[in-house]
Amino acid sequence: MENEDTTILNFKGYNFQRDLVDTDLLENLENFEVRDDDVFVITYPKSGTIWTQQILSLIYFEGHRNSTENLETLDRAPFLEYNIRNVDFSKRPSPRLFCSHIPYFLAPKGFKNKKVKIVYVYRNPKDILNSYFHFSNMVALLEASDTIERFMKKFLDGKVVGSVWFDHIRGWYEHRHDFNILFMMYEEMNKDLRSSVLKICKFLEKDLSEEDVDAIVRQATFPNMKLDSKANYDKILQNEIGKRSEGYFLRKGIVGDWKNHLTVEQNERFDRIFQKKMKDFPLKFIWDINED
Ligand code: A3P
Repeated sequence: MENEDTTILNFKGYNFQRDLVDTDLLENLENFEVRDDDVFVITYPKSGTIWTQQILSLIYFEGHRNSTENLETLDRAPFLEYNIRNVDFSKRPSPRLFCSHIPYFLAPKGFKNKKVKIVYVYRNPKDILNSYFHFSNMVALLEASDTIERFMKKFLDGKVVGSVWFDHIRGWYEHRHDFNILFMMYEEMNKDLRSSVLKICKFLEKDLSEEDVDAIVRQATFPNMKLDSKANYDKILQNEIGKRSEGYFLRKGIVGDWKNHLTVEQNERFDRIFQKKMKDFPLKFIWDINED
């Protein structure tokens, strides 16, 4: 089915970025051959994907931790559905790391072996909306919106890459028992990066030394990642995705920036929709930096 936004490709009810998606892979996604030691970061866009990609790369690869190798995180943990560097995934050595924005219902069947590890990162959707608004105005391959009001409508209707945020998180959460999945909250990572790294390490059964954990935390902070050309996606934005205006994947990296961009009325409208859609949803969200 075609969507009005020509940058979107709708496949089986979910919106992908048309120019970047590997359609052959999508056709065969269900049977994508997973390995027991594969690890996936799964997110709705703008929830902390590249941050977690960097954390996983640092956890798994000593050469990344001590900077003895010069490999972009995109090559360490490529996107499953956006295979922009045409990697033959079947030839990658184990353990393979991947990123993905797929919804639970498009997950490869092999995920249900419950061996494949999934780190699902979620973030309060007002900050996602705000981050996504800025991002889609900056990135040439996404449709720009002249106002946040216009983008908010698209976002709430799911007329964006990633479709409806509510469905994405609910889908993965409600089917969590079918998968080996850890839910990480962006705001908790922001508040206490070290504890978050340790929690991820525990899930991945990675017993690292204090020094290694220190090195991971240091290299995964916002300012250090922003300066790290292997991790900040600046080259990818320049060369593969393309910019229409100045901007970065690492924009602000804070909790609650939505307050600087949504009007009182927009915020209240968002709250009403959120209450209606998520009232029985058990995961908690943090909307403000001062909240616990
Ligand atoms: P903002 O636009 O609010 O700054 P994704 O990788 O899923 O596209 O998410 C991008 C968002 O994650 C951006 O949010 C970006 O700044 C934030 N981010 C990336 N690395 C981060 C880090 N090390 N610490 C905090 N936020 C980070």
